[in-house]
Amino acid sequence: MTADRKEKLINSFKERFGMNPDIISRGPGRVNLIGEHTDYNQGFVLPVAIDRDIAIVSKVRDDRIVRLYSLDFNIEVEFPLDNIVYDEDNKWSNYPKGVARILQEEGYNLRGMDGVITGNVPQGAGLSSSAAFEVAMAMNFEKLSGLEIDPVKMALLSQKAENKFVGVNCGIMDQFISRMGKKDHALLLDCRNLEFDLVPFVLEDVKLVVCNTNKTRGLMDSEYNARRRECERGVKLLEEYLPGIESLRDVELKDFMKCKYHLPEVTEKRCRYVIKENDRVLESVEALEEDEDLIRFGELMNQSHIGLRDDYEVSCPELDAMVEIAWKTEGVIGSRMTGAGFGGCTVTIVTDDAFDVLVENVKNEYPKRTGLKPEIFVFSAEDGAGTIDI
Ligand code: GLA
Repeated sequence: MTADRKEKLINSFKERFGMNPDIISRGPGRVNLIGEHTDYNQGFVLPVAIDRDIAIVSKVRDDRIVRLYSLDFNIEVEFPLDNIVYDEDNKWSNYPKGVARILQEEGYNLRGMDGVITGNVPQGAGLSSSAAFEVAMAMNFEKLSGLEIDPVKMALLSQKAENKFVGVNCGIMDQFISRMGKKDHALLLDCRNLEFDLVPFVLEDVKLVVCNTNKTRGLMDSEYNARRRECERGVKLLEEYLPGIESLRDVELKDFMKCKYHLPEVTEKRCRYVIKENDRVLESVEALEEDEDLIRFGELMNQSHIGLRDDYEVSCPELDAMVEIAWKTEGVIGSRMTGAGFGGCTVTIVTDDAFDVLVENVKNEYPKRTGLKPEIFVFSAEDGAGTIDI
């Protein structure tokens, strides 16, 4: 967190509440390098935490009231820890409320607080601003209430807040990387048992570029849930031929090829994508870790996009245009959509030398093809959530 941003946040707390705050907590957004729509299929993902976060400066209160001011939206909400209700009008307040509710249901004794929130994770762009908010909030409650919450458990409880209170049926990837990310590392997560490995991800002579399509993600929730259901249906149908499988994670490609004829066409495509994507994640880690073969990794990213576009069908013309512009740029190692899809961002690895040309190509071609203005970010792998004493 830059000194400027920290100072601004602390000053706005002092102005608003007329006191000195105790702590700042922060939860970062993420970029998923590869392993899309695999988390809810008990598969593998490989995200990095980024240098964009939701930050909350706060001071503990003697009573059980939570009062939060959003610097970015200029709205204040107040709720009692003993009576937490969903707010239709103030949607953002449901993130802190959800976290408070779930932590308490889990038996944690929370204390009230006054807080000011600010964020610089682009919203609705598929970079997990929601997970960042939930994790930042959970970190804040943990510290101010003098608790110790196991980090993996915190990720799970933050996900539960989103599933059960906010009402979005997401997997575990976003909250996990926001809590557990590590500088200069990507995180290989096995979403079946939450075992993870940190994979060195130092960008030498290349850049990690994220391009926002600025396409509003219209049907995302319903389509996301539909994909989940299709995968579940696939598992049910495949079980007859592959007894003992619990998820697509348990299905090997060679076995799938033998019994795929029993599946309806759409279900077959969805399952094929997930099974192949899991293999691609593991191969990516091998390419990065053992062979230091970024070229292979880039090819796997490209294949992942093709699968998401043609088989899983969660891309859109804007994401495809952005990826195609990158693919055509010499010096681009790999490019794909990242996150749930239907808009949001792409992730691209490009050599330092080719970066300026990529930016130029995106700025020139993307608006012509889509009528939208792109945004371009350069990120690196950063640490997961944390707190700072003031
Ligand atoms: C969203 C969800 C994640 C994951 C991705 C797709 O970001 O929150 O759990 O399913 O989509 O990979």
